[in-house]
Amino acid sequence: MTLLALETSCDETSAAVVRDGTVLSNVVSSQIELHQEYGGVVPELAAREHLKNLLPVAQAALREAGVSASALEAVAATQGPGLAIALLVGFKAAQAAAFALNKPFIGINHHEAHLYSPWIQRVPNASRLAADFSKFQPNVSLIVSGGHTLLVHVASELNHHVLGGTIDDAAGECFDKTGKLMGLAYPAGPIIDRLAAQGQPDAYAFPRPLLHEPHDDFSFSGLKTSVRYFIRDHPTWLEDPQKIRDLCASVQAAIVEVLVKKTVRAAKREGVRCVTASGGVTCNSGLRRELADACKRHGFVLRLAEQRLCTDNAAMIGILAERKLLARTPLPPLDEEVKPGWALAEERTNE
Ligand code: KG4
Ligand code: ZN
Repeated sequence: MTLLALETSCDETSAAVVRDGTVLSNVVSSQIELHQEYGGVVPELAAREHLKNLLPVAQAALREAGVSASALEAVAATQGPGLAIALLVGFKAAQAAAFALNKPFIGINHHEAHLYSPWIQRVPNASRLAADFSKFQPNVSLIVSGGHTLLVHVASELNHHVLGGTIDDAAGECFDKTGKLMGLAYPAGPIIDRLAAQGQPDAYAFPRPLLHEPHDDFSFSGLKTSVRYFIRDHPTWLEDPQKIRDLCASVQAAIVEVLVKKTVRAAKREGVRCVTASGGVTCNSGLRRELADACKRHGFVLRLAEQRLCTDNAAMIGILAERKLLARTPLPPLDEEVKPGWALAEERTNE
């Protein structure tokens, strides 16, 4: 099946062409620079930028894939969760394309797509990406982005339930907000990652929120507040480049320890043998390293999303859409609306 997928849930405009589990193209236009001066994503600006970029991005995806619009057999788009006016751009354009081509259309839950993105890997000896579900095994999946921190039990393909989520700030938000307190540019996550590599992670012991609570929920706003107080009480730290690196390493160590320990604990409890992770924060080198070490120690297979698929992209939307269409998931009516608050299922199904 040859399918075009569009993703516009936040600040990345992306289009991908997928065929039989292979990603033929995955074009991503990031708006980071546009939002930088505001210190965060401005929804109205994001939507306008999606409107400007969507067609060129989709055309580039078709061109790179060597596929003409008339060869498409289905169209998909992110339906939620995300910023309503941003989602609308890709979703309505995809519905219109499906209508014009008279082909099936499917709306995809962005987080559900993240769950399966670690199964999309680079094909050996080639630069292209393909999904390999033949190796699929039940897993606990960590989704960590700027807006969400989720732990999900994926019992089988297309069958999952949420174990826990963030009750306030997401992990990426914590990186970005603590970085802002240190005077770093938005988004601060990648900058903290870089500076932390030359810092002392034990320079200061920041709290590890909810680490020892028995549930799988996360909370990072208290950590942000303690960084705020630390900077207030130690203003000279921000004048010393090495102390800034130490601060970055200490903040990163606190976030990573909570994410890794809670993920491994949930995986043990759920009785799975596999852990997966995706979302922008999965680019963090400390998280990748610590998660790999912990999984090795506890005997879990770890599947991390490829770096280029950690952040938002249409390839993961297209891969999941194709799986769903092949599984004969009922198609929604073509005039369905976006679902900005669309949460993944929390109930366990009969497994
Ligand atoms: O998944 P994503 O691209 O967008 C959504 O939020 O949906 O994630 C962006 C988040 C930002 O908070 C950014 O600071 C964080 O991912 N991030 C990182 C790194 N790269 C991106 N955080 C820590 N270390 C990184 N290397
Ligand atoms: Zn995402």
